[in-house]
Amino acid sequence: MFNKKTVREVELTGKRVLLRADFNVPVKKGIISDDYRVKQSLPTIDYILRQKGTSLVIISHLGRPINSDDKSSSLAPVAKHLSSLLGKPVKFAEDCIGEDAKKTADELRAGDILLLENLRYHKEEEKNDEQFAKNIVEASGGEIFVQDGFGVVHRAHASTDAITKLLPAVAGLLLEKEIKAVIKVMKDPARPLLAVVGGAKISDKIEVLNRFIEIADCVAIGGAMTNNFLVAQGISVGKSLIDKESINTAHEILEKIKVQEQQRSFSFLVPVDVVVSTDKDGRATTRVVDIASHSLADIQSYPKSPPAEAYSIAADEMVLDIGPISSAYISGAVKLAKTVIWNGTLGVTETKGISGAHDPFAHGSRMVIDAMIGPTNWHHSKPFTFVGGGDTAAYVEGEGLVDDFNHVSTGGGAALELMSGKSLPGVEVLLNKEG
Ligand code: 3PG
Repeated sequence: MFNKKTVREVELTGKRVLLRADFNVPVKKGIISDDYRVKQSLPTIDYILRQKGTSLVIISHLGRPINSDDKSSSLAPVAKHLSSLLGKPVKFAEDCIGEDAKKTADELRAGDILLLENLRYHKEEEKNDEQFAKNIVEASGGEIFVQDGFGVVHRAHASTDAITKLLPAVAGLLLEKEIKAVIKVMKDPARPLLAVVGGAKISDKIEVLNRFIEIADCVAIGGAMTNNFLVAQGISVGKSLIDKESINTAHEILEKIKVQEQQRSFSFLVPVDVVVSTDKDGRATTRVVDIASHSLADIQSYPKSPPAEAYSIAADEMVLDIGPISSAYISGAVKLAKTVIWNGTLGVTETKGISGAHDPFAHGSRMVIDAMIGPTNWHHSKPFTFVGGGDTAAYVEGEGLVDDFNHVSTGGGAALELMSGKSLPGVEVLLNKEG
């Protein structure tokens, strides 16, 4: 249960509201390439401004700038973009503390919005510095603090922790929605529950993977993480990306799986075929290697078996996608599931295909997406689909499919930590419902 007070449960009339958003979006030469996080913060902004006499000061970080000279991390383009999304001016102050910010904030009237410059231009932000938090409150004139930056609440920073000691601190609507979605899929999912876990590094996902192994009915592996599991099974993976720090982790997980499979009905799906190439630029020849599905036949002289190399990855090749058989059986598992949690693309989705062609190593992800949001499954209703943030959300957003999923999280690390069962420092410090 989500037991924190939200912005709906406090009196805002006539107040200056200080809102922490996560506007950490990709910006190149002043252009935002993915504004999902900004758009997801609109309901809270809209709610606050609909209350009588309120004015709003928004704070956020963007990127990890070394110092304030790094103008590529400025929030100025976000202020402009937010203004176009809201259809009203958004003022911008070139610092989040100090006289200028205070002067601009002091001039705000009811209904006005001000975005302050990147918090991380001050090293005190990440140090959770109390004086820095005081300076922000002073400059903004904030009377109540609303935390809506779900993507950053796994950090105990000045704008997520120290600031909550200075003002009454409540949750925004996005934060509430995100946490409720995680509670729904992790604590009370409609079953069968399938977790599809891809992405590059096991070490980033070890905790959430362990949790899925405990609670899900089926866990399917894809992405570069596959390579660690193949190596753990004694299969050579050529020059594929391997998470070297976690070479033993895959062994340990496979041991844990054996126990789970003996104790209950549980399946762990590691790809049995993969797409390989000598380069990931999409121009080198690609081929499918049948690692363990034993389903390939030589199409030139069917049903003869293909040559030995069809079953092994060459020393100069790398795994770049899951193969069609693996995609088909993960899709089958999706169609049997009532809840699907998806975190991590199943192949390299950054390589763009030539005009009109599919992206060469995104076929696995596309097939599984199709099973998740396509028209039918064996229950004649789609599973509840939860996309676990970070690169996966960016991919879904880039494909224009956000509205086809039930929930696409704005949080990367925060979503993973919450799904792993960890408490989030920036949420713990908010007022409780009964408080
Ligand atoms: C994110 O993008 O995951 C959040 O904005 C947090 O950013 P950080 O990892 O730089 O703290």
